Amino acid sequence: MKNRLTEMFGIEYPIFAFSHCRDVVAAVTNAGGMGVLGALAFSPEQLELELKWIDEHVNGRPYGVDVVMPVKTVDRDAGLSDTGDIGAKLRQYISQEHWDYVDKILADHGVVVDPDAAELESGAGMGAGVLGWTEATGAPQIEIALSHDIALLASALGPPPKAAIEQAHAQGVKVAALVGRVQQAERDVQEGVDIIIAQGYEAGGHTGEVASMVLVPDVVDAIAPVPVLAAGGIGTGRQMAAAMALGADGVWTGSIWLTVSENTNGGVVTDKLLAATSTDTVRSRAFTGKPARQLRTGWTEAWEAPESPGTLPMPLQFMLNAYANRKMGAHPPKELVGMPVGQIVSRMNRIRTTKAVVQEMVEEYVDAATKLVGDLED
Ligand SMILES: Cc1cc2nc3c(=O)[nH]c(=O)nc-3n(C[C@H](O)[C@H](O)[C@H](O)COP(=O)(O)O)c2cc1C
Repeated sequence: MKNRLTEMFGIEYPIFAFSHCRDVVAAVTNAGGMGVLGALAFSPEQLELELKWIDEHVNGRPYGVDVVMPVKTVDRDAGLSDTGDIGAKLRQYISQEHWDYVDKILADHGVVVDPDAAELESGAGMGAGVLGWTEATGAPQIEIALSHDIALLASALGPPPKAAIEQAHAQGVKVAALVGRVQQAERDVQEGVDIIIAQGYEAGGHTGEVASMVLVPDVVDAIAPVPVLAAGGIGTGRQMAAAMALGADGVWTGSIWLTVSENTNGGVVTDKLLAATSTDTVRSRAFTGKPARQLRTGWTEAWEAPESPGTLPMPLQFMLNAYANRKMGAHPPKELVGMPVGQIVSRMNRIRTTKAVVQEMVEEYVDAATKLVGDLED
């Protein structure tokens, strides 16, 4: 395939793959697409190791890093800084009622809650579930990403800070940002973002309210000639062909890589993903505090129940999640096991290699595009 994005990055296919798994990132890049590592859950030290590993496994081929830069979080609103104790500072914003409700959810699912088993204090910063979405924890991730030979810096929930965009450009790194609305695309282009990822409501992870079928052409028209990647509900070649027909220059995929052989451990979550249909996901604030599509579980249901104290804003809600995970340990009840995934989960019903997914997507894309042209000629 040849278009302005394949030319821009020197890749064979305009298939961009978001994953937290370095093996998937390297495998997509080596298969002719562009792997993008999600940095969110990595400490700066770990991120450095992951990127070093990728550098050693892609033979100079291009890959990217994704960070999460929310425009609005509790720490930003309150002006909190200092990575060292950000977890402790943020804990003060969580009411006892919320900790108690988490204990109740666990008890309702048969988890024996030992009040001393997992201290709230166990883990500052990343360990407390703060992850990279505060200003204090996100900035070092960008710094490390830009110290490697990356081709793309992507960001979700908001564009990277202006200084990071400028540094990226000075180093020849392209900048992409995920959006769920036309206005966000226009804002991010104003900020200097090079590629917009228009992500529809079907997608796994944080999503807006507009479906891809409507969002993609609206974004393409609003910010032309800026290139657009379509995201949300794309896991096959026919879906890729549809995205290109909507005016996208390529596709940005996430969920489909959760069941590739490089990224599965045969645990409960894999079984659930393989069995789930597209109606088994829900867009809920129960995971992070912002609406994110994920498997429907006892956890998501509990936060919607009448006795729920209500979810907390980012990043507090995920700190509750991390607390629950610490208390559940290695064997959580099956009903509480979940993760972000999109409606495309209905097609994730067998384990394939990353390379096979890329190849099948390309082959099916060619068939679909050929059929469209054939229909015109007939
Ligand atoms: C498990 C999971 C975690 C995700 N985490 C992030 C993230 O940290 N940063 C980000 O930009 N997007 C994240 N996303 C969204 C993906 O980048 C991508 O936009 C989305 O998965 C595309 O829709 P699809 O799931 O239908 O393929 C996540 C998606 C999934 C499934």
